[in-house]
Amino acid sequence: MSLAELQELEERYAMPTYARAPVEFVRGEGARLWDADGREYLDFFAGLSVHNAGHCHPRIVAAIREQVGRLAGVSNLYYTEPGMRLCERLAESSLGGKVFLCNSGAEANECAIKLARKHAHGRGIAAPEIVVLDGAFHGRTLGTLAATPRLARDDLFGPLPAGYLAVPRESPAALRDAVGERTAAVMIEPIQGEAGVFPIGDDVLVAAREACAESGALLVFDEIQSGMGRTGSLWAYQQLPVAPDLITAAKALGGGLPVGACVTSPELGDVLERGDHGSTFAGAPVAGAAALAAIKVIDDPELLRRTRELGARFMGGLAGLDRVAEVRGRGLMVGVSLAAGTDAAGAARRALDEGLVINVPGPGMLRFLPPLTIGPEEVDEAGAILARVLG
Ligand SMILES: Cc1ncc(COP(=O)(O)O)c(C=O)c1O
Repeated sequence: MSLAELQELEERYAMPTYARAPVEFVRGEGARLWDADGREYLDFFAGLSVHNAGHCHPRIVAAIREQVGRLAGVSNLYYTEPGMRLCERLAESSLGGKVFLCNSGAEANECAIKLARKHAHGRGIAAPEIVVLDGAFHGRTLGTLAATPRLARDDLFGPLPAGYLAVPRESPAALRDAVGERTAAVMIEPIQGEAGVFPIGDDVLVAAREACAESGALLVFDEIQSGMGRTGSLWAYQQLPVAPDLITAAKALGGGLPVGACVTSPELGDVLERGDHGSTFAGAPVAGAAALAAIKVIDDPELLRRTRELGARFMGGLAGLDRVAEVRGRGLMVGVSLAAGTDAAGAARRALDEGLVINVPGPGMLRFLPPLTIGPEEVDEAGAILARVLG
């Protein structure tokens, strides 16, 4: 089928919710993609930070093949090994409590919001509030949309769930002021990805931790984009001065399959009880096997060390390029703001023409989320293409 034919199908049958670039990818391996004409691309987007282990990692492919040929699922009314082992692996690698598995990032955050609200009701709070930061992206279900200030449009999707309060992302004082008796949780992406890669300052994170400790509210870190090795540690919070009470994960967690998770600290493991929450596909064996294989690939000290090292090399190169005004990020989660008047979408289009896949998170910004398995040559190759595109 030609690209024109795919576009015709899209036009007739797919809801027009995405702005797709005019390229059909048919194969991937490591950090490389190939289109339908056989043209090779260097992928610095990794399916929006999903393929952190690279496309079609042989150990993840083998785990999926083995499991899907044996047992695909039986529902959560029975036991299977991969789902339970995944809960163990996630809890032991992070906060040490308990895990709810699901199928996407938005669902992981829905679980965190429900847990925080139930916890607040247990503390006698009748109308709990969730404090979020301006610029945050927590998902597109109604509950997570309400937690995403720049998309929470009542005029389009209202009435949205009530009980969300947004504060500026760089103000510890505003955050402290917003947390009070009614606060169920403060929900933060340690590095805001969709906004254009904005690391949240340590002062804001410390203020959030202290305000939560004083008020009894829960600190939730949305690690859906920043987790799974992206910043050079398995979870981004492991390089930060504070630890949260809950983390949410998805994207790269499933090694390419749709897997999400909400992980608690030990004290919060039993807040959600039998019947409080559920999902048909959650923790099914194929997804579980894929996620276990993905974590095994990513949670490797050498790979994580290289992620930090290559991130620093890439960011150093970007800082010297024409039309780059600011470079932000940690590890291989990198964003730039371009000089005023630079057409970021045009730059991304030219990069694609030159065989480099990158992303435009907003006007005047570029975002880079390559597989963590890249080498220094690929970092330099991307840098050279960007120098031509921006020069
Ligand atoms: C930080 C963050 N939270 C939540 C989500 C929502 O995840 P999903 O698209 O899997 O629902 C995303 C997706 O981009 C994200 O980056």
